[in-house]
Order: sequence, then structure tokens, then C-alpha cells
Amino acid sequence: IGAMHMAIYNIVKVGAPILREKAAPVTRFDKKLAKLMKDMAETMYRANGCGLAAPQIGLGKRIVVIDAGDGYGIREFVNPVLSDPVGEEVDEEGCLSVPTYEGEVERAAQITVTYQDAKGTHYRLTAQGLLARALQHECDHLEGILFIDKAISLTAKPKEEERI
Ligand code: NI
Repeated sequence: IGAMHMAIYNIVKVGAPILREKAAPVTRFDKKLAKLMKDMAETMYRANGCGLAAPQIGLGKRIVVIDAGDGYGIREFVNPVLSDPVGEEVDEEGCLSVPTYEGEVERAAQITVTYQDAKGTHYRLTAQGLLARALQHECDHLEGILFIDKAISLTAKPKEEERI
């Protein structure tokens, strides 16, 4: 029922110029933005991802959605700015825009993000674990950076039909 007016976007893949561009700040906080973020979330879930940045749907705007699998559900970040990194952690990452590789990336173990919601209200959040990693991965997308640029190891992902 809730999916009545949902739109699913195509996810652009590595090689597309938009993935290498710096995204622009959001300045209009309206119903269109709220709808866009709902559709980004739906697109992410449909692709079995845990994070999606607007450049990945071909839109150069500073918008990120994340579901870190912590039971909170979807988190929406408009104009996110990261600060106060603490510690470092190496773990596996993949990306919906880089379907053929996964790799180990070193990230801050804890990060603070200031951001706005769909209405423009400002928030501040300190995150650890997968949420911290996803925030750093997705905010890199807003700068035109992909995890393959930072990976300390890369392995080819088996094709879907080869997985057991
Ligand atoms: Ni990604």
C-alpha cells in the first residue's frame, strides 16, 4: 500500500562521469525532496544495499540514505558533513555502483555527522560500526570518490549464479 507512488531509479555504475563529480548542496527543502529520499530508500532496498548516495541515481546533490541494519530502519541525510574521526577499522566494503568488486577499506571507527532532514532541520549524530562506515562510504560518493580508490585489497565478486 505504501509503495503506491514509489519510483525505483536505475543505479549508475562505475564509468559514469556523475560518480566522479562533486555533488551540490541541497537548498530547497520541499515535498519533492522528501519524495526523492523515499524513492532513494526504495531503490536501495530493492538492490539489497545498505546505503545510497544521490550521485548513484545520476543526481549530483548532497543526499544520502542508509540502513545500517541496526533496527532503526532508514536514515536520511541531507548536506551531511563529517567530523571528529576516532580510531581506525579495516573491513570489507562493496558498492551498488561497483557490482564486480569488493574490498577492504580502512575507515574511522567512529565519526560524527552534522546534517539536515527533508524539512531542513539540523541534526548531529555520532556513529560507530556499520553506520560509521556507511556514512564515510556514502559521503565519499558526494566528493566523487569510490571505495575502490581507497581499498587496500580488492577481490572480484563471483557472479550471482556462481554463489552458493
Ligand atoms: Ni557506494
